[in-house]
Amino acid sequence: MEREKNVHEITIAGYKQIGQSNSVLPSDMVMSALECGGRVSIVDGRVRVAWRTGNGQFACSDDDYNHLVQRFEDTDQLYTFNKNNKPQLQTNDTFAEILGIDNVNPTSWEITSGGYVFRPVAKEEYEAVDIIRKKTFSLEGPTHQVYDIIEAIGGYIGGVFDSTNTLVAFTTVLPAYDEMLPNNQGFLLDMIGVSPEAQGKGLGQHAVKVVTYIAEALNKPWIKLTYDPLSSKLSGFYTGLGFQPITFYKDLYGEGYDRFLAILDLSNSSQKNRLVSDRSKWRGIR
Ligand SMILES: CC(C)(COP(=O)(O)OP(=O)(O)OC[C@H]1O[C@@H](n2cnc3c(N)ncnc32)[C@H](O)[C@@H]1OP(=O)(O)O)[C@@H](O)C(=O)NCCC(=O)NCCS
Repeated sequence: MEREKNVHEITIAGYKQIGQSNSVLPSDMVMSALECGGRVSIVDGRVRVAWRTGNGQFACSDDDYNHLVQRFEDTDQLYTFNKNNKPQLQTNDTFAEILGIDNVNPTSWEITSGGYVFRPVAKEEYEAVDIIRKKTFSLEGPTHQVYDIIEAIGGYIGGVFDSTNTLVAFTTVLPAYDEMLPNNQGFLLDMIGVSPEAQGKGLGQHAVKVVTYIAEALNKPWIKLTYDPLSSKLSGFYTGLGFQPITFYKDLYGEGYDRFLAILDLSNSSQKNRLVSDRSKWRGIR
């Protein structure tokens, strides 16, 4: 196959290049794909993304396949999206109790606590996610295709619903591949947003605990995320949940934003014990 000429693969510091290219995905999502071990190429001015899936393989859209496959040495590594059935959660009553979770449905992933339900968001509810995303991150742009991709690669859009079935918080979780971390495969907690009127009631903390439960229930030994090191709120929020900042990235995306990379390592008994022993400090949903 003849190689396309105007192609270059970009790195995590390439935010600007993505912004200046033609992309069907928002730039922050393309950077998330890179953070999860994916590969991004700009081919004739157009951004093409190969996502890293839950089993460590690469997956892309039908449209991107022909442009990307020639960049991969072993062509077998690249697949077009193949949406699999959601795996069942391996339930763990003790861990659920530690995390303050009342009930878990291993098939539907419906997890209840304190009158709130955490469950994967249905397609017809994407609009409600967009509203909170806009209020909490001031982000607009194409999202529904992104949410479909997240599902197709083995991630999920999790929502917290109140007793009237109104969405009050959301999380986007992506499978992540990282050779520096145990078992190489875990989750990236990409976004968490709590509706402004519902903030400060313990819902954000609860949502992260549920994501932690799901990671454990799927044998993912770690969750990673990045946050603004200047935010004492986020620092208190994540370290209070047992996350440990392990790396400081100066200008991570080449856009002037510094970031801490923080990990919750469930395979590390001292970090897991910390999660358990800190339970007394958690105030629950209020
Ligand atoms: C960050 C966010 C998810 C937290 O959710 P929340 O429901 O408001 O937070 P919680 O009530 O669960 O708070 C848990 C802990 O976070 C910290 N925290 C929360 N709000 C805080 C504030 N305004 N100032 C300082 N610390 C704060 C505290 O340690 C708190 O524990 P405590 O209540 O025992 O003191 C939410 O505020 C949000 O959506 N912010 C906008 C989007 C965002 O920044 N997302 C994260 C991007 S990395």
